[in-house]
Amino acid sequence: MADKHVSSLGVVSRKYLLCLFSFILALFLLSWFLVLRSTGRPNSIDHSLLTKPFHSIINNGSSPSWDQYNVELPLGNREGEGEDEETPREKVAVKEVKCNTHNENSKEPLKVYMYDLPPEFHFGLLGWTPQGDSVWPDLRTKIPAYPGGLNLQHSIEYWLTLDLLASETPGFPRAGGAIRVRNSSEADVIFVPFFSSLSYNRYSKVNPHQKKSKNKLLQEKLVKFVTSQREWKRSRGRDHVILAHHPNSMLNARMKLWPAMFILADFGRYPPSIANVEKDVIAPYKHVIRSYVDDLSNFDSRPILLYFQGAIYRKDGGLARQELFYLLKDEKDVHFQFGSVQKNGINKASKGMHSSKFCLNIADAIKEKFLVNMIRGIGKDEWTRMWQKLKEVEHFFEFQYPSKEGDAVQMIWQAVARKVPVMRMKIHRSMRYSRSLIHNNRELRTIPTPSNFW
Ligand SMILES: *[C@@H]1O[C@H](CO)[C@@H](O)[C@H](O)[C@H]1NC(C)=O
Repeated sequence: MADKHVSSLGVVSRKYLLCLFSFILALFLLSWFLVLRSTGRPNSIDHSLLTKPFHSIINNGSSPSWDQYNVELPLGNREGEGEDEETPREKVAVKEVKCNTHNENSKEPLKVYMYDLPPEFHFGLLGWTPQGDSVWPDLRTKIPAYPGGLNLQHSIEYWLTLDLLASETPGFPRAGGAIRVRNSSEADVIFVPFFSSLSYNRYSKVNPHQKKSKNKLLQEKLVKFVTSQREWKRSRGRDHVILAHHPNSMLNARMKLWPAMFILADFGRYPPSIANVEKDVIAPYKHVIRSYVDDLSNFDSRPILLYFQGAIYRKDGGLARQELFYLLKDEKDVHFQFGSVQKNGINKASKGMHSSKFCLNIADAIKEKFLVNMIRGIGKDEWTRMWQKLKEVEHFFEFQYPSKEGDAVQMIWQAVARKVPVMRMKIHRSMRYSRSLIHNNRELRTIPTPSNFW
């Protein structure tokens, strides 16, 4: 009897404690939001953007209101909410923004405004000279070719630019992830068509009678041009898309154009303040090996177990390749050889890879027998499953013109499109900070249109 009494008391007080705890937690969360709000420290998601302030900026002058754009703000109350009244409702809003950021149901193409840069920044680097007024080649005639060999690995600039040009050429069969628009106020992003990787690969040398390399000069010119544009000034560059796929490309300009969205191969040579996963896009290399079209091979028809061909001794590549070479050199069915793009190297490597069960992507497997034992342990069934999975994703790695649904070009446009909502929020936030300037009506007109906002 006494026990029962005690235990029921226990239940009651536990319930009570739970209630109290939830209440305190709620209060804590509330105060936390208010503190964040008042210090105005940057967060990964900017809460202040989700409420009234930018609405009020827009209504502050002659600009159209959100309703005209048919944009649904995530918060229920869009009118007259005091700035300090932000509540945990914001939490809900943030969640919605996150979901909406990933909403790919809308098939609206990304609207891209492309600067008409002089040819010396793009097709001029391929030896093309303009005929007539246009700075762009006419795609219905001959398209200038991008140089082969290892240059191709970073040719992302070329495929994206061609795709934008194709979007304006009537009757062109292509996948429609992005279209070029001529009015920058209607664009989601501003594309800077500088073939920076080619510029690095081809024009980094300083010739005897030059002070600077052409690559460096072009970057200086580019910075001057871009930062003086109306489009750059209105967003401080945040809605610009800049290509710097070769890790050494844009070495000088990157420090000046950092607010923009970069398309990179990796973040390795960038400080996080210049490039980071929040604002930038990582694009795959274009593979230089021939695609295995209509691959009807199987486990048994590929005699080589493991294949690697490439540079084994590298200036700055560490010792992994050399060590692997010594670990693997006595394995009969392993091909691990020096090779380059010269002397038909790409064709040979294509053939070799197509005849191998596995290809080595050098990363540290430098433990005796570890690698070979691991892959010998993968039997026919598992290998076939892996091979089928690879076939499902291989199209993501194809850069081509015209671009096709599901290829690398389309994947990059999608990745850019996913960054647009957060990018827009940042632009609005910085406008809010400079609100004092905004009474001046000129600024008002420069607010990016929220078309396509969610
Ligand atoms: C560009 O688009 C904006 C917004 O839609 C519009 O107000 C403006 O008139 C357009 N400009 C031109 C030159 O068409």
